[in-house]
Amino acid sequence: MDELFFSFQDSLIPDEEIDELGVKIGGEIQSMKDAASMGYSDDRASINLPFDNKAVDRVKEVVEDKKELNPSYLVVVGIGGSIRGTKAVQEAVSGKLRNQRDSGMKVLYACNPDPYIIRDIKGIMESILEKKDNVVLNVVSKSGTTTETMANFQLLVDLLKEHRQDYRRYVVATTERDSGLWNLASKEGFDLLEIPGKVGGRYSVYSPVGLFPLAMLGVDIDELLKGARIMRDRCLKSEIRDNPAVFGSIVTYLHHRGGNSIYNLFLYSEDFESIGGWYRQLMAESLGKEYNNSGERVFEGLTPLTCIGSRDLHSMAQLLLGGPYDKLTSFIKVEGEDSMVSVPVNPRYSCLVDGIQGKSLGFIIDAIYEGVKVSFRNNKRPFTEVVLPDRREASIGEFLQYKMMETMYLGSLLDVNPFNQPNVESYKKETRRILGD
Ligand code: PA5
Repeated sequence: MDELFFSFQDSLIPDEEIDELGVKIGGEIQSMKDAASMGYSDDRASINLPFDNKAVDRVKEVVEDKKELNPSYLVVVGIGGSIRGTKAVQEAVSGKLRNQRDSGMKVLYACNPDPYIIRDIKGIMESILEKKDNVVLNVVSKSGTTTETMANFQLLVDLLKEHRQDYRRYVVATTERDSGLWNLASKEGFDLLEIPGKVGGRYSVYSPVGLFPLAMLGVDIDELLKGARIMRDRCLKSEIRDNPAVFGSIVTYLHHRGGNSIYNLFLYSEDFESIGGWYRQLMAESLGKEYNNSGERVFEGLTPLTCIGSRDLHSMAQLLLGGPYDKLTSFIKVEGEDSMVSVPVNPRYSCLVDGIQGKSLGFIIDAIYEGVKVSFRNNKRPFTEVVLPDRREASIGEFLQYKMMETMYLGSLLDVNPFNQPNVESYKKETRRILGD
């Protein structure tokens, strides 16, 4: 298997209902196909990011320049869609413990303006800079006006300035052309990377937002985008059974309509936890809407939930199997990685748990996974499955592209705009007013 494998057979939705919706969604598949040939002019513009060679070349040029500085740390400053995709891909591909495990460049994410975490990031940066090692700072904000990001950035760039006369060389700003940040970065002489106007934060991982930091950290962005392109084309297909984004959106929509409005993304890997965080934003911000496309007040939305297998079985399984029938679970699993680490064979310990002596941890987690699926079936709990062939860039690239397009199709079925976030903007405006006062 070298592509993602999808199974909807346990979704408990009858074929006739799916086919009925398949007709309804035909118009949106056509609009998506049209958008595929419209560059960055349609709201669905992000589906064309994986094909933008010019943007990739520019990212690689800046990466080459910054790598010449031989930085020991990359600090990414951003929030929401401007940082979640990067962290999701980086951890999925290279592991949550990459900083501790590898000797190369390390990464820190400055997201929350939480004084404790920023104090610690500042402290780490300070000790690196005092040792005469280098730090590259990548500030990412499409609007260039997000309070949290600008506060963190100003603070950290000031620190760089204190320690390096040529601090400008160490800063890369990723933003929309002509934003306040764009203008400041131009004046300051920071390197600039552009986010296309029609690409919203939560759909921007394949723009320089994600590509620059990921390439800096050694993620193969060509392979990532290759996977995204394969899935983009798969999710434009008219036949709904060949199009996982359409099929997934129909199943999710029908469950929502039937009262299962909690969508539980159950990821079977510690390193996929940040994919859960990325997806939570994608689903919540794209589909949680006060008004529908006709301007009627609908209070629409599904509530995303993330679980990590198998550890969260020890906190959530009771609710998932015994609690209310209000959830659809989507299991995400990687195929065939069972031989890396094994439980030693030790007769003195064999009294503890039957059946684990000499077994690999992959084998054990697979057995737990199969057991959970049987329990779900026995308890009539609906679920879908996505199996990734591995956790390499192309597979992760495929998965994120699938989820973004599924969300767009869901937006169409729910009759809401999946690209805006009017209620988020309202709190940002109020915050600026209060701070201004
Ligand atoms: O998806 C979105 O649009 C948001 O989550 C934004 O990414 C987030 O609010 C940060 O905005 P900005 O990139 O303008 O700083």
